[in-house]
Amino acid sequence: MLNTAVRAAQLAGKIILRNFEQNNLTVEEKQKNDLVTNVDRECEQAIRDFILSKYPEHKFLGEEGGNQQSVRNTDDALESERKQNKRHNAPRSNGEHVWIVDPIDGTTNFVKGIPHIAVSIALQINGRTELGVIYDPVRDELFKALRGQGCELNSRRLRVAENSSLDGTVLATAFPHRKRELVTSYTRILMRIFNECADIRRAGTASLDLAYVAAGRLDGYFELGLKPWDIVAGELMVREAGGIVTDFEGDNNYFESGNIICGGAKVVRQMVSLAREDAKSL
Ligand code: IPD
Ligand code: CA
Ligand code: CA
Repeated sequence: MLNTAVRAAQLAGKIILRNFEQNNLTVEEKQKNDLVTNVDRECEQAIRDFILSKYPEHKFLGEEGGNQQSVRNTDDALESERKQNKRHNAPRSNGEHVWIVDPIDGTTNFVKGIPHIAVSIALQINGRTELGVIYDPVRDELFKALRGQGCELNSRRLRVAENSSLDGTVLATAFPHRKRELVTSYTRILMRIFNECADIRRAGTASLDLAYVAAGRLDGYFELGLKPWDIVAGELMVREAGGIVTDFEGDNNYFESGNIICGGAKVVRQMVSLAREDAKSL
């Protein structure tokens, strides 16, 4: 199944590259500051068709699979998917396989011609993530993780950076651009963390932020308001590379809240202690 995920991601990667920097994109705003293009839809269709041709009994949850704006977590998303697609109408049963896919993560980058985008594919069995693939077609970098078997970049084993504190670290984050009501709390957290680290990046592709943490390129990452397809594959990668993933209160409810902090153990502990005060108001 890992091989299927890899081939599906590469298939979508080809479509992305073929359409990168083309002037004939159709761009729609799903909601304020949330874009989708014809290429996002084409990629998702190609991934869906490929995976379901191999595993027709599996369920498929893709970001562009319908009107899922109110989706807050994987269960809600699946419920919504079941309602929309009779093929997936079965109740959740033992052995349920669900593919969770972001066909283009970093759509705003894609639309602007910024070459920092990825395809993210994960498989959950009975609600537990078993594998994750994140593919950056521009750099031809393929990140893979299998539960219990580690994480690799182009076949090289990955390990998170182990820092004893935030001092000297380079982190990633994102502004809550779709949840402006969180800006005040977010800014307070950002400033507290920024005061302790060396620098912070906002590159615009959550899955690559997570993959880069797994690779030790980034020392940590924090973001609010993410969706399951943004983080399922990358969350497994960070954990398989020896990192810690929590929400802003240091708990495990990041799929429910969409609020995520990750990195090496000590960096995460310090970020959570700096975020906790404002986490209640998120
Ligand atoms: C977005 C990107 C971005 C993150 C947003 C995501 P999309 O995904 O991952 O980095 O800050 O929260 O929604 O819409 O480009 O698939
Ligand atoms: Ca995304
Ligand atoms: Ca997307």
